[in-house]
Amino acid sequence: MDPHELLYSMRADETQTDEAIRAFVDGVVDGTVTRPQAASWITHVYRRGLSDAETVALTRAMTASGTVLSWPDGPTLADKHSTGGVGDKVSLILAPLWAELGYRVPMLSGRGLGHTGGTLDKLESIPGFRTDLDEDALRAVLADTGCFISGQTERIAPADRILYALRNEVCCVESNPLIVGSILSKKLAEGVQRLVLDVKTGSGAFMQTEEAAVALAVDLVRVAVGAGLDCEACITAMDRPLGQAVGNAVEVVESVATLQGDGPEDLRALVLALTDDPRAAEVLRSGRAYERFARMVAAQGGDTRALEKPKKLAGRGASEAVMVAERSGWVQAVDARGIADAAFVLGAGRIRSDDPVDPGVGLWVHAEIGQPVAEGQPIATLLHRDGKNLARAFASVKAAVVIGDSPATATPLVRRRIRAADVL
Ligand code: URA
Repeated sequence: MDPHELLYSMRADETQTDEAIRAFVDGVVDGTVTRPQAASWITHVYRRGLSDAETVALTRAMTASGTVLSWPDGPTLADKHSTGGVGDKVSLILAPLWAELGYRVPMLSGRGLGHTGGTLDKLESIPGFRTDLDEDALRAVLADTGCFISGQTERIAPADRILYALRNEVCCVESNPLIVGSILSKKLAEGVQRLVLDVKTGSGAFMQTEEAAVALAVDLVRVAVGAGLDCEACITAMDRPLGQAVGNAVEVVESVATLQGDGPEDLRALVLALTDDPRAAEVLRSGRAYERFARMVAAQGGDTRALEKPKKLAGRGASEAVMVAERSGWVQAVDARGIADAAFVLGAGRIRSDDPVDPGVGLWVHAEIGQPVAEGQPIATLLHRDGKNLARAFASVKAAVVIGDSPATATPLVRRRIRAADVL
């Protein structure tokens, strides 16, 4: 279809056929649809939305714009996607846990951008760990260990890279059909059969209100099921950080503790909720998930000695500064966004996708909502590089941790579960 025809048809608010959407996506990738035409299409979608059928067609076309991985017959292929959060290290735990439960987990992940951390950045603090495996290596690791966590190759959903960059440029990122197409095309290209979505809500989340998170989750589940996936979503709290560790190497340390049956209760609870399998708690307690993680790390070239000895993780040499409560009382809030901003200025995050991160900096947040604290009690330990931006990080943490006069309780961690039957 001539791109002009497509744009006139969008302007006239006509239903877009599967063929027209496919031709548009192919044209974006091969350059026959110009960047201004693609940007115009994006702004139309932003204003008008897409029907479910159109969103399924967009998702399928974006998936087909690159390689779709295929795997030999065998156990169910499963993955998880999180809309991103602060201290969200769930993938590091869930992939080996699922593998230990008998699934195959071909997990392609991303890097941190803005205030949210990235799974690949965290794993790369393990010396030698490779996140750039080619397709042959991915196959070998999956066959050997039942799971991998690696970066998306250039060949996975190339249409998404182009459209996402354009959405950013024309300020149209926040469009549910475009978000759904973007997320699901990459997951479908992994060749998985089961997908669990962690849609976060709160100050540290992409979707700040629960209403917006539910709307996105419903769209994601409906389109995923329409595209042939077994899919469900959990709406989960991101008004406070997940666990205590926020950064890169520190999050590996906390993930290892959780895989060994220890770790913070909220992190363990979220992993178990997303796994939704009665055997999972025992597998974590037994340490078998940790053994599986260590096998995956070794298969991806990582030095497993660093899992037992955090000093061997990358970024050593960061200094510690302890922040204490300025008054006694009860912790009312630990604002996720404020904690993320602190980690970011310390050097744990990036603005542009090619900026480096410092694996060794970050925070241990000791304060928990509802906890009584005494004046002078540590509420956070900041890991900094030669004092860089330490005063700014302190100010962010101070504003984030609110201490008041009365007891408080945290909002529920898992707000809602949305299954296929709820949306069809
Ligand atoms: N994450 C993605 O992968 N794509 C979006 O559009 C938004 C969040």
